[in-house]
Amino acid sequence: MAYQGFIPGRFPEKELKQTRTMEIAPDIWMIEGYLSMNFFLKPPSSNCFIMRDKDMVLLIDTGTYPHYREKILKILNRYRKDGAKRLVLMLTQGHFDHVANNDVIMEAGYREVDFYLPEAEVSSIDLFGHWTGEYQELREYYDTFREMMPLAFPTGVVRIVNSISQNLADKMMASHLRKLFKGINTMAHTAKILPDDSRVTRKFGDVEFLGWEVGRFFAVHDATHSPGHLSFYDPEHKVFLTGDATLEINPPFLNSSLNNCIAMMKKFRQFAEQGFVRLATDAHRSKIWSSMLIDKTGEAPMSPLQMQDTFEGAEQCAAYYALWETYYQGMKDEVLGILKRRGEATVHQIIADFKSSKNPHARFKVLMKFPQLPSRLDVMVANVLRENNIPKKKDGSKIIFSYK
Ligand SMILES: [Fe+2]
Repeated sequence: MAYQGFIPGRFPEKELKQTRTMEIAPDIWMIEGYLSMNFFLKPPSSNCFIMRDKDMVLLIDTGTYPHYREKILKILNRYRKDGAKRLVLMLTQGHFDHVANNDVIMEAGYREVDFYLPEAEVSSIDLFGHWTGEYQELREYYDTFREMMPLAFPTGVVRIVNSISQNLADKMMASHLRKLFKGINTMAHTAKILPDDSRVTRKFGDVEFLGWEVGRFFAVHDATHSPGHLSFYDPEHKVFLTGDATLEINPPFLNSSLNNCIAMMKKFRQFAEQGFVRLATDAHRSKIWSSMLIDKTGEAPMSPLQMQDTFEGAEQCAAYYALWETYYQGMKDEVLGILKRRGEATVHQIIADFKSSKNPHARFKVLMKFPQLPSRLDVMVANVLRENNIPKKKDGSKIIFSYK
């Protein structure tokens, strides 16, 4: 079974036909994903990558729509006929837009097939459990559906129901999520789990990463966008694929880490500055879809780099990571700055101030609205409050945070 879609079988076929398959370096393939301004009805798909090392082929992420199965199989079949024997599936993360075609590995006809999943990502790949569990956790910070759901279709219905009965709103959201994930076989039950203590350290110049060796490639455990998030490095061609670690919508979940995003971007920048990265991209870079999104929002991007498919040369790659380093740090500083000015504030008040901020990074974050895009300002604020151990107290139904 493959992904069914929120409305079964209604896929953005015309748009998907435009997606490109590019050999970005020798035996490193990028299959372009998909982005839209309608998260529930036309969900995004990640880019998928296929890299070969001798008789092993590494598949990274499998995308959302059945469209990607054919594209993936075409390359896998070619390598199998050319003598590759072992297929390894690894994921940048367990989110649905990266895992929906994971069962394609059973169709590729390889003699040996392995799926490796970091221990830290096991909870995220339980798609339904992760999303519904998160609402419960977020309620320790604010009235989640009130902040998250704008008063428009289909989210407004959940918000209105929530103001009458949280229980009923939860049931309604659960039914939406079942539709969103319908037909997906993540193959998680077959995964070989990589425990944290099996990670090895690799040093490049004075930059150190923890992760796992996969043939000649190195899977860097950066724990940014999700707890078990991985970025993939090919030392032979100096290619670095950073998944959703370098993404406008970070941090999208409470178990994402904005602090790790900031720390890792510094490392990635230094890694590039020291000459270890010659070609970079990530799991959602695409000049066609980025231009479409920017056109629709009617605002300029933070940097023209956001509109490229790939980045070439040490200088451009370092500039790309510096962009995210500044953006993530800018958002964190803005949230803590608001709290400092107010002394005490609820998440609702911090969001209101953040929305009127003149900080260009805050302005860019505000521009991306849920559910057009899976960017959640409310979650980002809760993430900063949680990670920086901001004290909180309850006052009736209000949860108030105070600057330390
Ligand atoms: Fe993604």
